[in-house]
Amino acid sequence: MTETLSIRDNRTGRDYELAITDGTIRAADLKQIKTGDEDDPGIATYDPGFVNTSSCRSSITYIDGDKGILEYRGYPIEQLAEHSTFLEVAYLLLHGELPTQTQLDEWVHDVTYHTFLHENCKQFIEGFRYDAHPMVMLMASVSALSTFYPEAGDISDPEVRQAQITRLIAKIPTLGAFVFRHQQGKPYVYPDNRLSYTENFLAMLFRMSEPTYQADPRLVQALEVLFILHADHEQNCSTNAVRSVGSSQVDPYSAVAAGVGALYGPLHGGANEAVLRMLNRIKTTDNIPDFIDGVKAGKEKLMGFGHRVYKNYDPRAKIIKKACDDVFEVTGVNPLLKIAQELEKIALEDEYFVKRKLYPNVDFYSGLIYEALEFPPEMFTVLFAIGRTPGWLAQWSELVQDKEQKIARPKQIYTGERTRDFIPMSER
Ligand SMILES: CC(C)(COP(=O)(O)OP(=O)(O)OC[C@H]1O[C@@H](n2cnc3c(N)ncnc32)[C@H](O)[C@@H]1OP(=O)(O)O)[C@@H](O)C(=O)NCCC(=O)NCCS
Repeated sequence: MTETLSIRDNRTGRDYELAITDGTIRAADLKQIKTGDEDDPGIATYDPGFVNTSSCRSSITYIDGDKGILEYRGYPIEQLAEHSTFLEVAYLLLHGELPTQTQLDEWVHDVTYHTFLHENCKQFIEGFRYDAHPMVMLMASVSALSTFYPEAGDISDPEVRQAQITRLIAKIPTLGAFVFRHQQGKPYVYPDNRLSYTENFLAMLFRMSEPTYQADPRLVQALEVLFILHADHEQNCSTNAVRSVGSSQVDPYSAVAAGVGALYGPLHGGANEAVLRMLNRIKTTDNIPDFIDGVKAGKEKLMGFGHRVYKNYDPRAKIIKKACDDVFEVTGVNPLLKIAQELEKIALEDEYFVKRKLYPNVDFYSGLIYEALEFPPEMFTVLFAIGRTPGWLAQWSELVQDKEQKIARPKQIYTGERTRDFIPMSER
């Protein structure tokens, strides 16, 4: 039996019955609800920020925000963080199933052998001022990659798509490391194909004159887990940007560059940088009560708290807390941890936060880990972007193969003036 929704239009007294599929009605079905006026386009929905609108059907990531559940292709994030590698998770997101050993070996080999950049990329990066924000350099260089692979525009060919997916996942850590070295005025370090994905990234960031850079395996593991936690998060702002730009059938470099731009914003990927600035500003636990009062009075936000989807503890924040302990075992405890823990304790008990279901999100603790790994705050979002690239590409790939998708083009409610006569300058 089809589920339906009955609607009575009180303007006309007419009744309508709309089909409900998967808990949704089709917005286009509302168009039939008209007043009878010939100019009336029919009822539409108004939904700034898409808080209650599904833009696609997707089988990649499942989130239950009330229960604090996150699953990639049906596998709980906790199990993937414990047992998987980042590239294995990337394969899962892209292909829908965990790889066999042979599939994984092939995938790791392909990614490893595409980590090098065209030498011209270095010149682009060198063109930026030393203090350019790494995210902007990353966004520009990801979109510049499109010029090296003009065939990438043929998005209807599965082999061409796969080649760009491999390239993007392989090259984004190299780009991230190069923008970091540019900022520091240090020579670029080329990829070392003997190392794993994450070891190689750390080597490109931190190697100086030593022939091989050996990162502490506990730090490599912590960063690997952070990449896994960030790998996808269904229709978040940057993924929506990738899908929206990708819906114009542009190449995936241009679509992913749009995702990097969206992620740069402080309400999205920039939040962990903001958390660290906030903790540094609070400075000591004595200053916490005043700070919390300011938040409750609406003067500022408690960064790293609250989420559009999670109205419970963000499951990723729990895993990150554990990774914090592992990292601090190697690096020594970050003194800001105490302030973060105290803030969390107060916020979880305070009525303001409890009533609004504001819990720590993924960014609340990740900044502390990144700082302990000696990343400057402006690099934090670059790490997020590297982790999110497989998710963006899995979503892009799903989009381009989805026959129902159209170019993204929301409606508007026009509130401006109409049909005015031009006023000559002398009469204004
Ligand atoms: C993530 C975020 C943008 C979600 O926003 P949203 O779903 O639009 O939620 P709203 O802004 O409608 O918030 C609902 C209420 O909680 C309050 N609120 C939300 N996040 C808050 C925070 N971090 N600190 C204090 N109050 C907060 C809002 O002021 C609002 O209160 P009101 O009902 O009295 O007006 C928001 O929680 C936020 O800005 N958090 C801080 C930034 C952050 O950590 N981002 C990383 C996300 S992973």
